Amino acid sequence: MPIKKVGVLGCGLMGSGIAQVAAQSGFPTAILEATPALVDAGMKRITKFLDGGVAKGKVAPADRDATLGRLRAGTDPAALADCDLVVEAITENLGAKRTIFAALEAHLKPDAILASNTSSLSITEMAAATARPTRFVGLHFFNPVPLMKLVEVVRTVETAAGVEETVAEFARAIGKTPIRTTDRTGFIVNRLLVPYLLDAIRAVEEGVGSIADIDAGMKLGCGHPMGPLTLNDLVGIDTTYFISQIMFDEFKEKRFAAPPLMKRMVMAGMLGRKSGRGFYDYSVEPPRPNDFLTGGAVERGR
Ligand code: CAA
Repeated sequence: MPIKKVGVLGCGLMGSGIAQVAAQSGFPTAILEATPALVDAGMKRITKFLDGGVAKGKVAPADRDATLGRLRAGTDPAALADCDLVVEAITENLGAKRTIFAALEAHLKPDAILASNTSSLSITEMAAATARPTRFVGLHFFNPVPLMKLVEVVRTVETAAGVEETVAEFARAIGKTPIRTTDRTGFIVNRLLVPYLLDAIRAVEEGVGSIADIDAGMKLGCGHPMGPLTLNDLVGIDTTYFISQIMFDEFKEKRFAAPPLMKRMVMAGMLGRKSGRGFYDYSVEPPRPNDFLTGGAVERGR
């Protein structure tokens, strides 16, 4: 069954990116948000990204307008009635996700495929809250969604083979490369990425190097597009903290344990780019390394 119309639940950082790339690739896309204010904020984020693309010469003004024309955002679940695929990208809370899937199902076509963009929660546990576990997959995008080429397609023990293929085909249709994985916490990428991001924070804690030098080390020494502390700020310190806790819970391995500095940054609201402060201070351009976090200042903060 080919996908013709897409639904996206949640229009935050990930949901807006997913809706944007679907619409940009020609799919009529319905976005469901909880409140009109969140609808507004999500559409503004998409418009800003597309305008940025136009300013950079990457998006033709006509494509921007056509993309926006394919998007319908609102708070009424009835708008998802004719969607073939609905991708959930709400907050990383299993209870909230299970609740929204259960509430939505009555509005969806019986053969619609449900997908979750979760980065760490169990796809199987979500699927079990629905009446269509064979038509349920993980579809894990990467931040920033419009620029990152990868999507993890996650099957559970119940996912029908045809459903996995249909979703992989959809990923290709929106310009992404799908890789396939099973429902194990962290899938492929976060299983490898999260210990690396945590180790970079441990390196700051232990005074191995300055924030700028740790980032420069991995950028210039290993050819990464950005250093691990910049990436922590991009993903969100709270997000990686949350993922690490779930992974630690699952595997009980030290490499997934959040370092104390990370916990304190989350408690202090230093969440990275989204809060304006993390390993870097984003109130200035270019962002300035937050050297308060290193050396003696770290000791004072404990
Ligand atoms: N519209 C269209 N194109 C745009 C654009 C826009 N608004 N903004 C930028 N671009 C284009 C640029 O023109 C550029 O294109 P070319 O390569 O053809 O020149 C390209 O996108 C890169 O943009 P920039 O040059 O502005 O920025 P950059 O080179 O610094 O790259 C980046 C930015 C893609 C984010 C890069 O730094 C990168 O790949 N970083 C790593 C990100 C990463 O690892 N993400 C995964 C996080 S983990 C996750 O998400 C999973 C999880 O569960 C936690």
